[in-house]
Amino acid sequence: MCGIVGYAGARPALGIVLDGLRRLEYRGYDSAGVAVINSGLLSCKRSGKLTNLDKALAELSANGGDGGLVTGTTGIGHTRWATHGPPTDRNAHPHQSTNGRIAVIHNGIIENFATLRAELEAAGVEFASDTDTECVAHMLAAELTALEEGSPHQAPAPAGVPASGTVPNKGPLLGVSFEEGSPVQAEHVSRVPSSKPGEVLAEAMRRVCRRLEGAFTLLVVDKEAPGVVVGARRDSPLVVGRGEDGNYLASDVSAFIAHTREAVELGQDQVVTITADAVEITDFRGEPAAGRDFHVDWDATAAEKGGYDYFMLKEIAEQPRAVADTLRGRLSDTGQIMLDEVRVSEQDLRDVDKIFIVACGTAYHAGLVAKYAIEHWTRIPCEVELASEFRYRDPVLDRTTMVVAISQSGETMDTLMALRHAKEQHARVLAICNTNGSTIPRESDAVLYTHAGPEIAVASTKAFLTQLIACYLVGLHLAQVRGIMYADEVATIVSQLQEMPGKVDSVLDVMEPVRQLGRELAGSPSVLFIGRHVGYPVALEGALKLKELAYMHAEGFAAGELKHGPIALIDNGTPVVCVVPSPVGRSVLHDKIVSNLQEVRARGARTIVIAEEGDEAVAAYADHLVRVPRTPTLLAPLVTTVPLQVLACEIASARGHDVDQPRNLAKSVTVE
Ligand code: G6P
Repeated sequence: MCGIVGYAGARPALGIVLDGLRRLEYRGYDSAGVAVINSGLLSCKRSGKLTNLDKALAELSANGGDGGLVTGTTGIGHTRWATHGPPTDRNAHPHQSTNGRIAVIHNGIIENFATLRAELEAAGVEFASDTDTECVAHMLAAELTALEEGSPHQAPAPAGVPASGTVPNKGPLLGVSFEEGSPVQAEHVSRVPSSKPGEVLAEAMRRVCRRLEGAFTLLVVDKEAPGVVVGARRDSPLVVGRGEDGNYLASDVSAFIAHTREAVELGQDQVVTITADAVEITDFRGEPAAGRDFHVDWDATAAEKGGYDYFMLKEIAEQPRAVADTLRGRLSDTGQIMLDEVRVSEQDLRDVDKIFIVACGTAYHAGLVAKYAIEHWTRIPCEVELASEFRYRDPVLDRTTMVVAISQSGETMDTLMALRHAKEQHARVLAICNTNGSTIPRESDAVLYTHAGPEIAVASTKAFLTQLIACYLVGLHLAQVRGIMYADEVATIVSQLQEMPGKVDSVLDVMEPVRQLGRELAGSPSVLFIGRHVGYPVALEGALKLKELAYMHAEGFAAGELKHGPIALIDNGTPVVCVVPSPVGRSVLHDKIVSNLQEVRARGARTIVIAEEGDEAVAAYADHLVRVPRTPTLLAPLVTTVPLQVLACEIASARGHDVDQPRNLAKSVTVE
């Protein structure tokens, strides 16, 4: 949800920033913009995808130059997922102060922006956009002025807005804004002697942050402080990259991974100042603070398409490796399941008498699968909740409750807020997360990282499969700690899990007929998905994939519920995808779904049946039969989900959609 990148160093910033934005575009693609300091503040922004900004920049160069935008060595860039104000040029970031001195980019929502805006307008500030972000630009300008005039106190928001020399801010929408020589700049005199570059800007940022409510990552550049980018974060991601030829700030490490793999995770409520050779961190009061250094264990090639047309196709293909990486090294020599970080005692784990899984979107579906495995293996009651609903219904939580937060990004605001609510009630929180350095694992008592590598496509694929693996491991760990499962039982399931990368691979090998089917179904108005047991969440996930990618009506149902209403949706030719459980071991379940298949066929449905090799009973009821390898029932979602991902991807591309960047969506949703 909005991608942010900043660079201060020895090399031209624009290329670095644009390259970073390209890698962050999955976070939002409603508009994009950059600001560079090079003997003045230079900015360009455009609504729509990053290519629109690229075109605008190319036109600027072709039309006689860009005023130094290309050569400046300090810059920031933003790719937007709109919250306040439609995705237009004027609402694109960066936003500038009225005096054109500073440019700000922002991810998150400033909840008290209406009050702040009213104060600023009462003081005569003219707004150039509908965004909450623009308040920050004006407030920062005010604080800079107050600081430079020697005011020891935090100025009220409007104070210090230049009374004279104001440049009406109609916004530098249609090209580069050249501010050099403006009356405001000419009048500017720094009255705060400062030994360190950016010290005044950082103090202004701290003052402003103390007045902001809500969630935000902010980056600012100041034409009076060339060579400096100041950032701040509260409840929204920001990581530092330490490079040899400069330092970086970004929403996530993929933005600077081509330049450095040495990163610093910032804590909550921190302000960071980067220059070419220094990184300084304080809290919002100005006390020195430290981040957590970490090394990124994947490289730039992992965040490239690698010859695939879409990231999603690449990520689907990477699933066998992602599953294997998430499993690697999880079983100790003594047969114990290993998590990554455990800040909770074994006794606390033994005391757990209730589990809640909280998550959103695809991660929620992983949680729905996990419930079956965790309850089966641990005998602890386990509820799965949409994170956005969890805290509002006042769930019953205490010290003996474990809350499992599943999140690929580690930044989803709904999940983070559910986690915090759980912690306030003294519950233990265990995170399953794919992103080192993100907020959700940092705030949890225990963490299991999925090693899916960067997931760029908005629709989650490999993250889902690795979340399933992580959930199985958590279930086994709890069962083991509580003495419900013996080491040899755990080892048996782990060895079944270790067969899964090969099985996923074999599913991928036979996907051509599914792709062909996808092209045939591209014109269908609606597709229904049904399943039972762990096949039910798989049906939900199949429908979600189709909705998000193909913009088609798609719904997932528990197959047994069909007759209670949804069967009325079935008409002649309605495609119904049926996820069939293994006939081995749970034949009752299997028999029931065979009946459901007959019911929908009797009403004209065109059935697409996902069934295990050797399951001959379903063949007669399948218009299209997709085979998956024989797999223990609880682990089956690892193979049955894959054809549904391929189907959705193919239908979407046959309908001409951008598979990686579906409309209205963003990968990392950092607002509630
Ligand atoms: C967004 C994405 C989904 C994702 C969900 C949860 O809605 O579009 O693909 O499943 O967020 O994200 P998380 O990062 O918490 O797993």
